[in-house]
This record gives sequence, C-alpha cells and structure tokens, in this order.
Amino acid sequence: MDSEFWLERWVRNEIGFHQREINAHLQEYWGRLGVVPGGRVFVPLCGKSRDLLWLRAEGHAVVGVEVSPLAVEAFFRENELDVQITSQGSFRRWESDGLVILQGDLFHLSAADLADVAGVYDRASLVALPPSMRQRYATHLRSILPPRAEKLLVTMEYDQAQMDGPPFAVEQAEVEALYGDAYTIERLFALDVLGENQRFRERGVSRMEERVYRLVPRAG
Ligand SMILES: C[S@@+](CC[C@H](N)C(=O)[O-])C[C@H]1O[C@@H](n2cnc3c(N)ncnc32)[C@H](O)[C@@H]1O
Repeated sequence: MDSEFWLERWVRNEIGFHQREINAHLQEYWGRLGVVPGGRVFVPLCGKSRDLLWLRAEGHAVVGVEVSPLAVEAFFRENELDVQITSQGSFRRWESDGLVILQGDLFHLSAADLADVAGVYDRASLVALPPSMRQRYATHLRSILPPRAEKLLVTMEYDQAQMDGPPFAVEQAEVEALYGDAYTIERLFALDVLGENQRFRERGVSRMEERVYRLVPRAG
C-alpha cells in the first residue's frame, strides 16, 4: 500500500473516506488540546479534507501533507482559494493565506518542515496504513515533530477478518504500543457507528467502533 496505490485511488476518484462536512469529532474535541489560536497545526495525509479550513478558521496556521497532486489541486479549486505554488525541498508547496499543503511523501518530511507545530490532527491517516507501515509512520512522526506537540487521533475498531483495509482497524492496544511510551493517552470517545456507515455494512462488517484520543507528550 504505497503511494502508487493512493495516487491511483485519486485518479479513479475512489475517495469514500472524504467527508463533505467538517468532522464532528474535530469540532467537539479539538478544544481539549492545549493548542492556542495562532499555534501551527499539522495534518498528516490530509487528502482534500475540509477540516483544514475549520482549523484555519479557529485561528491556526495549518500545514498538511498529501501525496496526490489531484487531491491538492481539488482542495484549492473546490474551496475557491487563490493559491501560490512554490517548492520546498522535494515537495510542491501550495499555500493560501496561512494554509499550506506540502504535496509529496510524508516519509520525506523533515523536522524543519514541521518546526513550531503545536498540534496534530490525525483522522483517516494512521488507519489508512497497513500494520507494517503504521510503526514506521509513528516512528517517523515522532522523530520530526516538536516534542511538545499534542495530537487528536481518530481510529476505528472492527474485526479485521470481516473486511480488508483501508481503513484498517487500529485497536486501543496498538495505539498504546505505538505512542504510549512518549505520550499520555486519554480516550475521549468510543461508540459503535456502524449504523451511520452503510459502506462498511455492505462490506460485511458487523461492528465498527470509532475512537478518539488525546495524546499529550510526556514531560522530558
Ligand atoms: C484515507 S485518506 C484520508 C484523507 C484525509 N485525512 C481525510 O480525512 O479525508 C489518506 C490520504 O493519505 C494520502 N497518502 C497516503 N500515503 C501517503 C504518503 N506516504 N504521503 C503523503 N500522503 C499520503 C492519500 O493520497 C490519501 O489522500
């Protein structure tokens, strides 16, 4: 499940993960993080999520990373934003009034790209990755994020035998294993949301729990 997989998904417009509305958990729980207005927020694997706009409206400088040029172009076009395109290392840097998307591979991001980031919003990002890549993703992010950056993380739990990912099931035990040594993990929400998710019912899933966590870096 490399970049080619995702580039192809965007070409075929197979983007069932994309939400027309602002994510309800983001609106409900973002305030639980200690990220002050003006603080810079990182959105990994951002797609063309409109949540970027919500975060900017909250007063944040926003930086997303997304591998698909189609997704990035669509984000700025569909939201009628004037955009300036420059380059930043191996990335194409798309910017509109405090909102930046670095178009390229997350695994090529460096600490300099995420300097001053105070908060991270991870929705449909960790769960987009197969098990072998999730450890790499968590390790890479930890190595490049400023030590004090908090995270809001949205995951899904279901029986992986009933459906192939993405989205992949990421149980709470795995969240603890990936992040527990560096972060205090507070669960903010857990609910079976299968009733609202016809596309997963159609794929044979009998339980689909969504979970939201606040991750606070441990001192030191
Ligand atoms: C499931 S989608 C979620 C998008 C967004 N978070 C949302 O909530 O709509 C995952 C996204 O990650 C992008 N992606 C996958 N691997 C990537 C990588 N290595 N670097 C940057 N983007 C990547 C894909 O193109 C896709 O748009």
